[in-house]
Amino acid sequence: MRIGIAGLGTVGSCVYAILKDKGDEIEKRSGRKCIVSKVITRTHSKYDKLGIPSDLVAEDFEDLIINSDIVVETIGGSEAARKLVKQSLELNRTVVTANKMLISEFGNEFTNSSPIKSLFFEAAVGGGIPIISLLEDYLIFHGIKRIRGILNGTTNFILSEMQKGMDYASALKIAQEKGYAEADPTSDVKGYDAAYKLSVLTGVKTGVFPGISTIETKGIEGIDKSDLERAATAGKKLKLIGTIDFEREVASVQPQEIERNDPLWSVDGVENAIEVETDLSGRFILRGEGAGAQPTATAIISDILRASRYAEKQSNSVVIMKFGGTSVDSAEKI
Ligand code: HSE
Repeated sequence: MRIGIAGLGTVGSCVYAILKDKGDEIEKRSGRKCIVSKVITRTHSKYDKLGIPSDLVAEDFEDLIINSDIVVETIGGSEAARKLVKQSLELNRTVVTANKMLISEFGNEFTNSSPIKSLFFEAAVGGGIPIISLLEDYLIFHGIKRIRGILNGTTNFILSEMQKGMDYASALKIAQEKGYAEADPTSDVKGYDAAYKLSVLTGVKTGVFPGISTIETKGIEGIDKSDLERAATAGKKLKLIGTIDFEREVASVQPQEIERNDPLWSVDGVENAIEVETDLSGRFILRGEGAGAQPTATAIISDILRASRYAEKQSNSVVIMKFGGTSVDSAEKI
């Protein structure tokens, strides 16, 4: 599999490093050989910094797409990423992305235009937590009644640190330094990032990505020490919780006081946790590192491997023949 990586920020450069350094191990464990065929990024100094040979540098998106089987989109934002993903799908490439805003807002446009599964976005929700695979595969025949969880690592980290006495600005600065926060952390602290993730999860369950305009969203900007102290005095903790109730058709992201017996109680720091309530098997809870280069990049690698299985099936079922003579016998497989 030829992998093209667009965007070499925190996550993209980690994907590049893993494929370059652990390519043999990935092949041994999965039976799939994945090589980076092209990369492209806005900040050209990254090429030297990461020791990327000049023949791997794509001239433009088209060059990257043409020379890749799987396009990894780690540019972030919406405009350039939307163009790249659209163009890649139009040229029948498989796309792997970590971009929750993109999937939340334009997922319908992408999935409508591709007849087979060619868009993978495990890394868009919950960092290293395999929630999308759980919903798409294991829970496929379950009715999902409710999803509730801590979906943003940055704000969970900030609230946890503030609980221990640190001020908001210092905690946010550390979250940025650790690579948890978005390039513009406004999306994290205002709750939009968690709302995009709820929209993505809704799309996986219903087939329609609603976007965030229907999700009542409140972030943590207005929270100060006194709010946390008040919660602690009452034996509670303050967490930014996202909820979608499919039965009542309501979705929200908001700071909530939770009790000690809540399964989200001990989810602190950069951890995320997602509770899925089903009709057939009760509740599932997944928790793990929800942000940061390594967990997000490994979710992308897992998607690359899932995508390569789909691509193999597709190429096994469609054999393109080039007719060199006048009969089928003389056709040559290409
Ligand atoms: N900024 C996001 C977070 C990154 O803090 O959760 C992972 O999606």
